[in-house]
This record gives sequence, C-alpha cells and structure tokens, in this order.
Amino acid sequence: MRWISWFVVGSALAAGSCSSLEAPPALPFDIRPTMTGLRVDALAIARALEVGDPTAAAASARRLESSALVPNGTTPPAEYETFATGFTSSARFLRQALEDDDTPRARIAFSQMLQRCDACHDQFRATPR
Ligand code: HEC
Repeated sequence: MRWISWFVVGSALAAGSCSSLEAPPALPFDIRPTMTGLRVDALAIARALEVGDPTAAAASARRLESSALVPNGTTPPAEYETFATGFTSSARFLRQALEDDDTPRARIAFSQMLQRCDACHDQFRATPR
C-alpha cells in the first residue's frame, strides 16, 4: 500500500501540479498561508497512515475539515466555493473513517480528498512562479 499513498500525495502536493495555461480568476483574499497548513496536515496524514497512527491522522483531518478556505466576510467566485465545500466534506469523511479506526476506508477517503486539492488547483491556482 505504501507506494500508492506516496504516489497520490506526490501528485497532489507537487510544485507544478497545475494544468491550466491561462491565469486563473483572482481570489479576493490571500489563501497561501492556509494552503501551507493544508500541506502540512496532508503530509502528516500520509505519514500517520503509513505508521498506523489513526489518532494523529484524525487530529490533522480535523484541522483540514475546519480550515477556512473561504475567509469570513469574503465572496470568492461561486465555483471556488463549490470546490471549497467539496473539500470540506471529503475531509469530514476522512476524519470519520479515522475516528472509526477504519484504515481501508480512511485510505480511500484520503486519496479522494487529495483529488479535491488537485481539482481546485486546476481551476484556481496559477502556474507556480
Ligand atoms: C478550494 C480550492 C482549493 C483547495 C480545495 C485546495 N487548494 Fe491549495 N491552493 C488553492 C489556490 C487558489 C492556490 C494558489 C494561491 C496563490 O498563489 O495565491 C493554492 C496553493 C497551494 C499551495 C502553494 C501555496 C503557496 O504558498 O504558494 C499549496 C502547498 C497547496 N495549495 C496545497 C493544498 C493541499 C495539500 C490541498 C488539499 C489538502 C489544497 N491545497 C486544497 C486552492 C485550493
């Protein structure tokens, strides 16, 4: 199972994982500090799944679930909000699987959540400079 999770993490976290060629729509806030936190927690979950520590993984999943991808009082494009909502619910599925100590379900939920990272990046993240 090891190579699968590292493959998935690699694709979602790679520096140049954006496929769009045009500049994405600008967001009315700087989301980069939040993203740095998401990356830390996603990597922590990958590691915790490898060593079989669902408690540590659940703590990180809880932080991902409560990350403010749409800061209070801001109005991003509707499509961005849809990606943000989808991400939050996939983080919730992951957190629930980890709290149930169901590692097979958690691994699936984790890779589905990473696909949500990529989906939003494809639309809203500019090619890294
Ligand atoms: C709802 C949309 C959305 C979701 C979901 C999302 N991201 Fe992002 N992410 C962005 C946007 C937009 C940027 C580009 C921000 C910029 O350059 O101003 C970005 C940039 C990043 C960066 C670079 C930050 C920097 O300092 O330049 C990292 C790392 C990152 N995301 C990790 C993740 C991880 C890991 C996940 C999933 C666990 C995730 N993101 C989910 C929208 C999203």
